[in-house]
Amino acid sequence: MISNKINTALKGSPKIPGDKSISHRSIIIPSISKGVCEVTNILKSDDVTNTLEAFKAMGVNITEQNEKIIIYGKGLNSLKKPTKEIYLGNSGTSARLLTGLLSSQSFNSKLIGDKSLSSRPMKRISDPLRKMNAEIYDNNGKLPLEIRGKELLSTSIDIKIPSAQIKSGIILAALNTSGTSEIIENYVSRDHTEIMLQSFEADINILKNNSKKIIKINGKKELVSKNIDVPCDLSSSAFFIVAAIINDNSNIKLCNININPTRNGILIALEKMGANIKYLNERTSNNEKICDIEIRNSKLTGCILDSDFSKLMIDEYPILSVAASFAVSPSIFKGLGELRVKESDRLNLIMLNLQRCGVECKIENDDLHIFPKKNFIKKNKTIKTDFDHRIAMAFAVMGTKIGPLEIEEANSINTSFPSFVDEFNKIGGQIS
Ligand code: S3P
Repeated sequence: MISNKINTALKGSPKIPGDKSISHRSIIIPSISKGVCEVTNILKSDDVTNTLEAFKAMGVNITEQNEKIIIYGKGLNSLKKPTKEIYLGNSGTSARLLTGLLSSQSFNSKLIGDKSLSSRPMKRISDPLRKMNAEIYDNNGKLPLEIRGKELLSTSIDIKIPSAQIKSGIILAALNTSGTSEIIENYVSRDHTEIMLQSFEADINILKNNSKKIIKINGKKELVSKNIDVPCDLSSSAFFIVAAIINDNSNIKLCNININPTRNGILIALEKMGANIKYLNERTSNNEKICDIEIRNSKLTGCILDSDFSKLMIDEYPILSVAASFAVSPSIFKGLGELRVKESDRLNLIMLNLQRCGVECKIENDDLHIFPKKNFIKKNKTIKTDFDHRIAMAFAVMGTKIGPLEIEEANSINTSFPSFVDEFNKIGGQIS
């Protein structure tokens, strides 16, 4: 894919697809609930399709009608043993959430994935599940995972890594476990699972104690299905938000965007840097906070973000780093170790590709330092992505200012945002 420099302002209202995290949960939770669930605006991307196919393979009746998917849930123990391994492609969310869910089912299963997913850490989910007596056999802490489904023991689990995937995997295991399971979360992470389970009438109690959160689940209570309208994805929006901020005279509007406060760090960070962002029509839908967002071209100053900030915007550092490259002063983003175990080693790829684009930057103790300059002297116009969708999209945005950039393996974008190029070109982009 080639991202060319644009000579016009970005204008218009691109259509942002449904939120990826909520889309996964909109398949998983209704599949183990009782009743019929109509899901609208679900993200149709490779990652979500893998979750959908997994549940179809476990016997759940899921149909498509126009733009809706309809899930006929039959309860906590209605899933059937799949006839073969479950392939999850690139999707870490599917892998971690399904490991938890399948640990407390009454059948055995095996999870496999693509090259990138097969190199990502799974002990972070299997170890806490083993404390509940789960039987999981891994390949040196990685996929493939063999799960011997069984009745688990309710216990208290203290999560040390800030991760919604780990938290959600344990919650899903606890739903089908007798007694009260307790999950102690030491750092904030996105809370879409808890929000959806509350509306599906799970027996779940949440206590907040400073930065700690204690989630108590009384297992074996059947969930009651509700319809879901998936809000649009803030992580996908971020590419358009930054593109409009850095390109002169741009003015775009994004509608129906999820601004859940456990993951709105990108907006706070950009505003701290001086971005002109307006929030319109704030409302809630299925207990998720949403609004329309208007963004204009703005002059940015650099900023220092400490490591706690990374919990609120873990997926947005590639695009924030692109924004910081056009600020009038340096930025430091601290505590980005978790970026090393995403779909790629994102921290290194951000640095490598910024350097190829002629931006001075360095990594020191998992902190990223960016020193913007007025003139970009490209060292190499090829962007290495290691098949990481967010690196590909972030540097496509970079190309709008300093292009042309040639982005390798750009079909990875289908992981989360198949219509990215079309939507971008509709508002004035030149990506081919
Ligand atoms: C996600 C949680 C985050 C995020 C990922 C989606 C989720 O991962 O990076 O894109 O849907 O729960 P971690 O839980 O590993 O931080």
